[in-house]
Amino acid sequence: METRKQELRELKNYLIHLKDLGYTEIPCEAELLNNSAFQKTNPSNSANNMASKKSNSLAAVQKVLGDCTRCKLSEGRKNIVFGSGNPNADLVFVGEGPGADEDEQGLPFVGRSGKKLTEIIEKGMGLNREKDTYICNIVKCRPPGNRDPEADEVSACKPFLIQQLQAIKPKVIVALGKPASSTLLGRTVPIVKERGTWHEYEGIKLMLTFHPSYLIRFYTLENRKAVHEDMKKVLKELKK
Ligand code: URA
Repeated sequence: METRKQELRELKNYLIHLKDLGYTEIPCEAELLNNSAFQKTNPSNSANNMASKKSNSLAAVQKVLGDCTRCKLSEGRKNIVFGSGNPNADLVFVGEGPGADEDEQGLPFVGRSGKKLTEIIEKGMGLNREKDTYICNIVKCRPPGNRDPEADEVSACKPFLIQQLQAIKPKVIVALGKPASSTLLGRTVPIVKERGTWHEYEGIKLMLTFHPSYLIRFYTLENRKAVHEDMKKVLKELKK
C-alpha cells in the first residue's frame, strides 16, 4: 500500500514536472526525446555525459521551482532555501535540508552546522566558500523539527537538485551525511562505513563524508581527522 502511494506521488510529481516544462498533454516518448528541456531535466536520462550537456541556468531552474507547493514541507516553511555560492563552482556540497536559521534567511548552511561547514571549507581546505563552492540541499524547505526529509518530499525535490547539478556541472560533489549520500546514490548508505570513498553521480566524482552537524555532535579527533582526510582527497581531485 505504501509503495503504491509512493508510486502515485512520484507519478503526480512527474506530471507536475511535465507541466512545468510547458506540456499541456502527456507527450509520447519521441516528443520527449526532441524536447531539449526534458533531456536536461529527466533524471532517468542517465547523463554519464552530463558534463557535455547544455543545460538550464540555475536561475531558470529556480524559476521553474517557483513558489513550490509540490510537497507538504511547503506548508510550514518561511523561505525556500534554493542554494548559494558560485554557479560555476568546481565543487558542490549537498546537505540534507534547511534548519531554522536557513528557513529564516532563505540561505543554506548559515546556522551552527553552516559555521562548521565554512570552517571545513575555508580553514581546512583553504578555499573561499562563496567563490569556490556552491551549496545546496536535497530538500529546499525545512522539515518540521529538523526531522529527516521523508521519501515523498525527497522525490518531489530531487528533480531540482538534479537540475542544479546539471546547471553547475562541478568536477566534484560532496554529499554531507547519510540522507544526501543515500539520495544521490539511490540506496541506503552506511555513512560510517562508506565515508571517504569515491563514487560517481551522473559522470561526476562524488565523495561521501560526515554531515557537519554529526561532527558537532560527535566532536572526536577520529571524526575530525576523517573529514580532514576526505577533504584532502577532494582537493587532490580538484587539482587534476
Ligand atoms: N543542515 C543541512 O543539511 N542543510 C542546511 O542548509 C543546514 C543544515
